[in-house]
Amino acid sequence: MTSDIEIRNAAGARDLENLRQLYLDAFPDEDLSPLVSELLGGTAPVLSLVATFGGEAVGHVVFTNCTVEPGGNPIALLGPLCVTPEHQKGGIGSKLVRTGFDHLKATVAQVMVLGDPQYYGRFGFKADRLVEPPCPIPAEWRDAWQSVQLDDRSATASGRLIVPDAWNDPALWSD
Ligand SMILES: CC(C)(COP(=O)(O)OP(=O)(O)OC[C@H]1O[C@@H](n2cnc3c(N)ncnc32)[C@H](O)[C@@H]1OP(=O)(O)O)[C@@H](O)C(=O)NCCC(=O)NCCS
Repeated sequence: MTSDIEIRNAAGARDLENLRQLYLDAFPDEDLSPLVSELLGGTAPVLSLVATFGGEAVGHVVFTNCTVEPGGNPIALLGPLCVTPEHQKGGIGSKLVRTGFDHLKATVAQVMVLGDPQYYGRFGFKADRLVEPPCPIPAEWRDAWQSVQLDDRSATASGRLIVPDAWNDPALWSD
């Protein structure tokens, strides 16, 4: 039950160790912990939320503050997102994403994600052709590059997504 789930900001080295295990469990074929460590330990601002159940970390999401050039308008990049296998399909991923949106609304009008449209569509994400990803993505993933507006009154972003170094790795954007 999501009412038993608490969402808080990630903090400190102890969280990083818990998150390493969480990502290994959720993504057995892919080691995302270097990316997560770099994002959480870097100087670029991120929103990093942990979902806990009985005090134990069971889910995590990162939103990275980026910009779109030309213009330099602020925009967020969602990812990675994970929920430990025993707790998947219980609404935790959705709660992490929606809590992130609530935090970001004041400063960011649009969020980008590279992910399954079937999952991210529930949050209003739609395929985006106006924001160019920082690295090439395979043609068959074209519709997986999506955006959502957090503020309907703002203009849709257009241009190139400028990301911190941690995200400037082509391997993160292709198979
Ligand atoms: C994807 C993930 C974050 C979703 O979190 P969750 O807490 O399980 O999801 P929620 O409970 O909020 O939503 C459940 C719904 O998402 C769907 N769903 C879960 N994982 C999905 C996926 N990889 N692709 C498409 N849909 C998915 C479920 O079928 C369910 O659909 P329903 O509401 O129609 O029944 C989680 O399953 C996970 O960590 N998976 C492994 C890692 C991964 O694939 N991450 C992708 C994001 S980068």
